[in-house]
Amino acid sequence: MENIVVIGSSSIDLVVKTDVLPQAGETVMGNSFFTTTGGKGANQAVAAARLSNKVYMIGAVGDDKNGKQIIENLEQNNVDTTFMDKIENETSGTAHITLFEDDNRIIVVPAANNHVTPEKVLPKLERFGAGDIILMQHEIPEHTIKEVTDYAVKHDMKVILNPAPYRNIDKEIIDKVTWITPNESESELLFENGVDEALKAYPRKLIVTKGAAGAMFYNDSQQLVKGYKKKVVDTTGAGDTFNGALAVALIENKPLEEAVDFANLAGSFSVTGLGAQGAMPYRKELD
Ligand code: RIB
Repeated sequence: MENIVVIGSSSIDLVVKTDVLPQAGETVMGNSFFTTTGGKGANQAVAAARLSNKVYMIGAVGDDKNGKQIIENLEQNNVDTTFMDKIENETSGTAHITLFEDDNRIIVVPAANNHVTPEKVLPKLERFGAGDIILMQHEIPEHTIKEVTDYAVKHDMKVILNPAPYRNIDKEIIDKVTWITPNESESELLFENGVDEALKAYPRKLIVTKGAAGAMFYNDSQQLVKGYKKKVVDTTGAGDTFNGALAVALIENKPLEEAVDFANLAGSFSVTGLGAQGAMPYRKELD
């Protein structure tokens, strides 16, 4: 069976729930605080590994307590961590999250995630080959995305790029990846001629996620694969769950519409619990 290789960030999330957002220079009282494991790469790896075997993560942690917790959590979730680096004299990534009115605001400090460079990643890819799916996001250096994509094309591997958070990317990368999965606001920033035109320009490649409404792609005409509505506790990690589940469905060779439906369903479960990975579903729940 082919492998899913997530190349991306890992972090410890520091989460505050509040009913009031502070203005500049203001102090307000929050409701609660917790820490948990996160990072878009690690979240997507955990989401995929709860639904399938053979999920590997390539990334980096610092030589601190947080790094130990990140690795232990990946292993407890069935993610193979053979290719996770521990960077000496560096801290692990952190994400500082405010939960306010059913939505989140996030500041990421990449730290060790800045060490996920082509020099470190490309040699590890020799273990993988044709048919394997690489899943990447935008919390690691941009040149890593570019060089990994070139490597994947040369070696007949498939790439899902989840361009989150938004940053400008070369059109050449979009052309080379197999699938790209921005949300609506990332799509508007990425494609200057608008989302409808972009969907048409990249049929069966561009998949635009719309939260609970579902996801869109183009196949002769614009397709909306409807989402599933669930009671929202915390939306953090819903996009990551979508991407991890999409990778699983695609490696199982499900047709695109079915794969997107599977990913929508997984994403809908993830909003029902606190924390990015808290309510990511297991296979038996989805089946
Ligand atoms: O997508 C959600 C993730 O974004 C959080 O877990 C946080 O770590 C940030 O990277």
